[in-house]
Amino acid sequence: MVALVPAAGRGVRLGAGVPKALVPVGGRSLLSRAVRGLLASGRVQHVVVAAPPDQVEVVAAELAELPSAHVVPGGAERTDSVRRALDAAAQVAPDARVVLVHDAARAFTPASVIQDVVDAVEQGAPAVVPVLPVTDTIKQVDDAGDVVSTVDRARLRAVQTPQGFAIDVLRDAYAAAGDITTDDAGLVERLGGEVRTVPGHPHALKITTAFDLAIAESVLAPAED
Ligand code: CTP
Ligand code: MG
Repeated sequence: MVALVPAAGRGVRLGAGVPKALVPVGGRSLLSRAVRGLLASGRVQHVVVAAPPDQVEVVAAELAELPSAHVVPGGAERTDSVRRALDAAAQVAPDARVVLVHDAARAFTPASVIQDVVDAVEQGAPAVVPVLPVTDTIKQVDDAGDVVSTVDRARLRAVQTPQGFAIDVLRDAYAAAGDITTDDAGLVERLGGEVRTVPGHPHALKITTAFDLAIAESVLAPAED
């Protein structure tokens, strides 16, 4: 089993002055936590990290203690970063039949979520995403911001990572993908592939803003160290 970790973003919304993956929480970077979390799940043997192209050596040094982590240069968009990591996975783990794609920014994802995603793929699902029910009321608005309709949230789900795939399914999806997406499973849907859900977890939140980082520091990091 191989996991791809897109970590090549700049972290503009966090505004920490360094790429988000390298931002420490409780003394350890988000990237290091994300990679260690994957390996600690017991389901992942190899990790391919897509780093900011000008930070490949810094990122490799950050992960030097983890021989099963490999670092490649990412691209301008997340799609490019995942594509490069997926290409590298063919060398790093040529026999892998299942692949995970996991954002470095979801550094506190519990092992149980990782295990549930892998198990669902191994039991035959071509693509699997962890999801949470949506708690806010969702409204659709027009260009002026006026409400057009209220969406029935009972059938809505917020999607987390890791997303899991039969590796050939993800390769086919990326071969067919022409444009940019933040959702790998969405590429499978476009090809008519079935995407299954498993329960996500609040701790798998994507650390995007300074508020999210403060939550991680106060709630998540102390509990783990
Ligand atoms: N990512 C990536 N390559 C890119 C852009 C994003 O590998 N060109 C990764 C990020 O490093 C992150 C994940 O995709 O782990 C989700 O992206 P996001 O949360 O948007 O992170 P950033 O793009 O770094 O943040 P921002 O959009 O605020 O700049
Ligand atoms: Mg981004």
